[in-house]
Amino acid sequence: MSFPVCEHHGGRLHEAARRWGIPVSDWLDLSTGISPFGWPVPVLPASVWQRLPEEDDGLAACCRHWLAVPADAGCLPVPGSQAALQLLPRLRTPCRVGVPSPGYREHGLAWQREGHSVVSLSFEQIDAALPDLDVLVCINPNNPTGHLYSLDTLLRWHQQLAEKGGWLIVDEAFLDASEGESLVSHCGKPGLIVLRSLGKFFGLAGVRAGLVLAPMALCAALDERLGPWALSHPARWVMTQAVQDREWQQQQRQRLRQARRRLNGLLAQSGLFPQGDSDLFAWCLHDKAETIRNSLARQGILVRHFDKPGALRFGLLGNENDEQRLLLALQALPV
Ligand SMILES: Cc1ncc(COP(=O)(O)O)c(C=O)c1O
Repeated sequence: MSFPVCEHHGGRLHEAARRWGIPVSDWLDLSTGISPFGWPVPVLPASVWQRLPEEDDGLAACCRHWLAVPADAGCLPVPGSQAALQLLPRLRTPCRVGVPSPGYREHGLAWQREGHSVVSLSFEQIDAALPDLDVLVCINPNNPTGHLYSLDTLLRWHQQLAEKGGWLIVDEAFLDASEGESLVSHCGKPGLIVLRSLGKFFGLAGVRAGLVLAPMALCAALDERLGPWALSHPARWVMTQAVQDREWQQQQRQRLRQARRRLNGLLAQSGLFPQGDSDLFAWCLHDKAETIRNSLARQGILVRHFDKPGALRFGLLGNENDEQRLLLALQALPV
């Protein structure tokens, strides 16, 4: 199995600082899909820092209400969707798993680590591969391409997998900032697992909070493996407030849409052709992608570079100064 060649993750500023000889504080980091506009975290009550978290604190109920989770589905807060995607492969005996390519590599790595046989699939290859798979992972919208899967397609794949005891895992980490439809209303059905994240749309990647929506028994099995207090009390408190703040979420959708439009305009002016249906990042295919990444890095602007196909992923710009800085850097490109 081969994964597309790329840097391991975005957001590794300390590594970039060492590699390019530019201090951490001087970088404009566009290498992640994390919103530059974070949910405004208030001062936390002292008891939240001092006391252990309690599972019946109302967080799960708030999340159920936020996403209108069906009553017969499990709803498990987790320390980031990463924690869940790493544990899911431990709940199955060795099987055949399809992961998206290009796509967030951690899915494939997690299944591979637990001894499963993993195949990387482009969107077009999935239908033909499905009869030979037990588990299919889809990222909706996909990171890094921003490709959106239709609900009908996902439900059809789920049906095919569930009939033979298989799983469809839909990673909706970036869904809040897109026109895509969530599968949450179908959760509770055997073999359907949906992952959500507080890191991207809410801009709270540091808090490490996410959600698993899946059959009750599967959530219980994950919960058992996570053990007590996996999600910190501050993380639970912040998540409870953020998911209830509908007004901010509404404004955030508009903010992200506008920021994505401005980013598109800026990239298009510079001969790059932004694609993808996530408002949190733009995907640009380019045969000189590596040269562009290097040139931007020398100017202290960090973007994600992908190989095969050559492409760049740009995160959103948080203010006009940063927009101006990227524009000037793009105009100075040697390509
Ligand atoms: C597609 C996708 N899913 C899940 C994650 C994990 O995010 P978190 O653990 O912050 O929820 C990431 C992180 O970049 C991601 O890109």
